[in-house]
Amino acid sequence: MADYKKKNILVTGGAGFIGSHVVRTFVRRYPDYNIYNLDALTYAGNLENLKDIEGRDNYFFLKGDITDAAFIEKEFAEKQFDAVIHLAAESHVDRSITDPLAFAKTNILGTINLLNAFKAIWMDNWDGKLFYHVSTDEVYGSLGATGYFTEETPYDPNSPYSASKASSDHFVRAYGETYGLPYTISNCSNNYGPNQFPEKLIPLFINNIINKNPLPVYGDGNYTRDWLYVEDHAEAIDLIFHKGQKNETYNIGGFNEWKNIDLVGLLCRQMDIKLGRQEGESEKLITFVRDRPGHDLRYAIDASKIHDGLGWNPSVTFEEGLAKTIEWYFDNSEWLQHVTSGEYQKYYKTQYSQTRI
Ligand code: NAD
Ligand code: TYD
Repeated sequence: MADYKKKNILVTGGAGFIGSHVVRTFVRRYPDYNIYNLDALTYAGNLENLKDIEGRDNYFFLKGDITDAAFIEKEFAEKQFDAVIHLAAESHVDRSITDPLAFAKTNILGTINLLNAFKAIWMDNWDGKLFYHVSTDEVYGSLGATGYFTEETPYDPNSPYSASKASSDHFVRAYGETYGLPYTISNCSNNYGPNQFPEKLIPLFINNIINKNPLPVYGDGNYTRDWLYVEDHAEAIDLIFHKGQKNETYNIGGFNEWKNIDLVGLLCRQMDIKLGRQEGESEKLITFVRDRPGHDLRYAIDASKIHDGLGWNPSVTFEEGLAKTIEWYFDNSEWLQHVTSGEYQKYYKTQYSQTRI
């Protein structure tokens, strides 16, 4: 039973990749909070991610869908959440190209349902309340060879995923302006690390290297992303949650830009060492495939606001973070086997069968 004197914090999407690291950080660090993890357990949600903290008495799991307004309203009315950290989303660009509506439903309507339920319980007195919306740098669109995304960069989303996240950011700000709802938003660059579903570049390629399957590099591989270790993102979220300015946005990035093809080269070299394979063996698996439609050329974050204002910095270099990530996937081969069975096989076939060039 939850302790009624404690603050009730709702984390949505806590069974997913980033959400599970956020839940773990908060459950371990803040015994004075009741942490509620609300998750629909889609293909991307997995309670195995939280096995180590599921028995803690300040942790509670609620299975449910944020698109179900009645369910969300009921949970908010019952639990009187003091704060929300909202991560639940459809998160993979390639899936958004196949099924944009699913992204509009979860990312836009789901966010509005949460905002409405939060407003319904606190509208008369917002004191001490916070709606923290976790978003992505992809809302800013694509950079050319130079420049960085700042908090002032105009939104210019290109994929159905980023368009749906941009829309949800706008709704959060609109509820702030219209109803006085206290919020923070953070827009983070590409995350990597333990527990990431193997549809995203790094875990997909780790799994394919282990199994000696082709590494499908989109286009010429000259696309740039700014990579951040997931635990550093969770730290940033903790800082912004506790010390961020109300109704402000923070950009979070790794100061760590990599062209995809260079990143894949580094990954292959680290994997060859780990697997005891000859240098260059995994690189032979690289296969250039048809490009992603609307593929953003470059993302790079200017994270000086969170660095200067809140003293945040990434704690690991990319080489260290990647080595830790590889280690985790080796130590958790059962996790990898569980998530790559069944539905995953169908997804993989559909996504990659026609793409070789
Ligand atoms: P993920 O896909 O790994 O996890 C999403 C979680 O949300 C899963 O547990 C899933 O079950 C849950 N979920 C999905 N639809 C739901 C619904 N309708 N109701 C309730 N739960 C639902 O995603 P992630 O990579 O951990 O991303 C988390 C958040 O961070 C997202 O909002 C994403 O936009 C944002 N983000 C991700 C990255 C990244 O690189 N992964 C970078 C910046 C921002
Ligand atoms: P991804 O991990 O899907 O993240 P995002 O699209 O949100 O940046 O992809 C990272 C980069 O890797 C992106 O430029 C697309 C590219 N990519 C490939 O080249 N091949 C793949 O199979 C995948 C999944 C991604």
